[in-house]
Amino acid sequence: MTVDLPATGPPNAASHPSPEISITGLDKQYKTEQGTVQALSGIDLEIEKEEFVSLIGRSGCGKTTLLRIMAGLVPPTSGDVCIGGRPLWIGTNVDSSVIRNLGVVFQDANLFPWYDIADNIALPLKLRGVGRRKRRARALELAELVGLGAFVDNYPRELSGGMRQRAAIARALSDDPELLLMDEPFGALDAMTRDRMNLEIQRIALATRATVVFVTHDIDEAAFLGDRVVHLTPRPGRIEQIVPVEAGRPRAYEVQTSPAFTHVVASLRSALMEEEHA
Ligand SMILES: Nc1ncnc2c1ncn2[C@@H]1O[C@H](COP(=O)(O)OP(=O)(O)O)[C@@H](O)[C@H]1O
Ligand SMILES: [Mg+2]
Repeated sequence: MTVDLPATGPPNAASHPSPEISITGLDKQYKTEQGTVQALSGIDLEIEKEEFVSLIGRSGCGKTTLLRIMAGLVPPTSGDVCIGGRPLWIGTNVDSSVIRNLGVVFQDANLFPWYDIADNIALPLKLRGVGRRKRRARALELAELVGLGAFVDNYPRELSGGMRQRAAIARALSDDPELLLMDEPFGALDAMTRDRMNLEIQRIALATRATVVFVTHDIDEAAFLGDRVVHLTPRPGRIEQIVPVEAGRPRAYEVQTSPAFTHVVASLRSALMEEEHA
């Protein structure tokens, strides 16, 4: 079965251009008591404005390390990350003006239990000194966007895991990120919730026009979401292949049964399987 999808463009939600990311010759070594761990080696990657890039690979191949370097949290050992043409790292110092508009979502939602959902979502705005009324309005708008409009006054413990993860995504979006970095955000969710969240994150990415780097170890998720799937090999993490996923947007779930899509998934799967036997 082939699925014809309309290649609709995103609405004119954001006025700022998204960054273009250029990663060149990136290496990362961790020094431990047992010796040096070469986590990443010679990573070269260009990411276009508004692109959705999936980053896939086996556990321990350096996905989180790469994301943390891009988020300005961990310095690279060598190599460059340029965002919007400006270097993010000067040696081990981060130039935080380069990543002002950054949203990060980790595997664990990490909400503050003593804040309600609205206050959790608006926390980045509070930290930036935005007034209460404005914060509340933005939190309500984002809660609607992620389907939590009826839960803004609830506390995290009153929500399911999927709902908490959606709140974490709303929080990451609250300060209008041009760049959204997500590290296995749906890893802890059951399969059905995860399917729904995949549709949701696609919709949000189109609506906000953010550039997204999405880490996962799930091949189907990587292909469903990504404009391209970047496959990292382990020890050290290198780019093994970059696979474009030729399907319009928004993608419906049925796209997964189309020949083009099953081909992408099959080739990624066999490459990952080979690693296992290498
Ligand atoms: N802080 C750290 N100190 C030492 N080694 C680390 C540290 N973080 C990650 N590593 C090692 O670097 C490699 C890549 O880890 P990571 O980036 O977490 O991979 P992934 O997210 O793909 O599972 C692994 O071998 C891991 O053990
Ligand atoms: Mg990881």
